[in-house]
Amino acid sequence: MTGATGFIGRALVPALLARGFHVSAASRRPRASADPLGVDWRVCDLLQPASLQSALAGASVAFYLVHSMGTGSSSFRELERRAALAFASAAASAGVERIVYLGGPAPPHEPSEHLRSRLEVGEILRSGSVKAVELRASMVIGPGSASWQIVRDLAVRLPVMVLPRWLGSRTRPVALEDVIHALIAAAGLPIEGSEWFDVPGPETLSGQQILERIAALRGRRFLALKVPFLTPRLSALWLRLITRTDFAVARELVLGLQEDLLPKDDRFWELLGRPELTSFDDAARRALAAE
Ligand SMILES: NC(=O)c1ccc[n+]([C@@H]2O[C@H](COP(=O)([O-])OP(=O)(O)OC[C@H]3O[C@@H](n4cnc5c(N)ncnc54)[C@H](OP(=O)(O)O)[C@@H]3O)[C@@H](O)[C@H]2O)c1
Repeated sequence: MTGATGFIGRALVPALLARGFHVSAASRRPRASADPLGVDWRVCDLLQPASLQSALAGASVAFYLVHSMGTGSSSFRELERRAALAFASAAASAGVERIVYLGGPAPPHEPSEHLRSRLEVGEILRSGSVKAVELRASMVIGPGSASWQIVRDLAVRLPVMVLPRWLGSRTRPVALEDVIHALIAAAGLPIEGSEWFDVPGPETLSGQQILERIAALRGRRFLALKVPFLTPRLSALWLRLITRTDFAVARELVLGLQEDLLPKDDRFWELLGRPELTSFDDAARRALAAE
């Protein structure tokens, strides 16, 4: 599992162990001590292809849970492309049978640089010789998620909510536990060839509605001040001021929300027998409680 130290990976490792799988977890940094849960940690940097062979040795399923958003690198799209190409090729040499990748949704028009990069990584992984399943999620709700942290901080910290236009864009935020369920199911899903699926949450919500819901869960009254025009740069500076996020992440989030980010369909959940998905309020309540 690449990205095993990240927000999604940290939740996926114990979920796989609980189901009896052997987990090899990859990080660019070596671990100082043995893992108490028996996870086999391996050092791996996707930008150092030589480290991929040993990281992937013996793996039947490889999870790709890596992104470089927020690193501030202007060439992150190129770096993401290189990393995905190296991974697809190393997975094929190592005899991996399935790649599972969690990416982002496709907007109806021109995607932002970050969303385009997420989609490109999916295309690269799906065009390799190892069968790949790309799952596309918008905001994942859980403690430690960069996008959740932003909306949570806005809803909880601001005395009066400033509402730039992009907070009118709608998404289908999905609970962390439902994403974990989807990732594990994708590892064993019978497929003919590589495929992509949306993994939306159960409710369509605008950014403003998300903030209202979180404020209500915290027992706060919601006072909104509409701002008709705020450039992405100003929005990002404002987000950096109010929330714990860094400028590069805030800017990508704002640019990605210039229009609705809705799924094409719910096909993936139908394939899984329509599991009951966690409501936004339940997911948000759990994330707030975990802080
Ligand atoms: N969070 C969300 O709301 C959300 C929504 C939709 C999709 N996703 C997708 O879910 C995936 C995981 O996101 P996340 O939120 O868990 O990210 P995260 O918390 O920021 O973690 C990023 C991970 O990437 C690893 N990484 C970065 N560069 C690497 C490199 N060159 N080589 C190897 N590993 C590298 C890091 O590992 P080390 O630092 O230990 O090396 C870290 O574990 C991404 O594909 C993202 O697009 C997330």
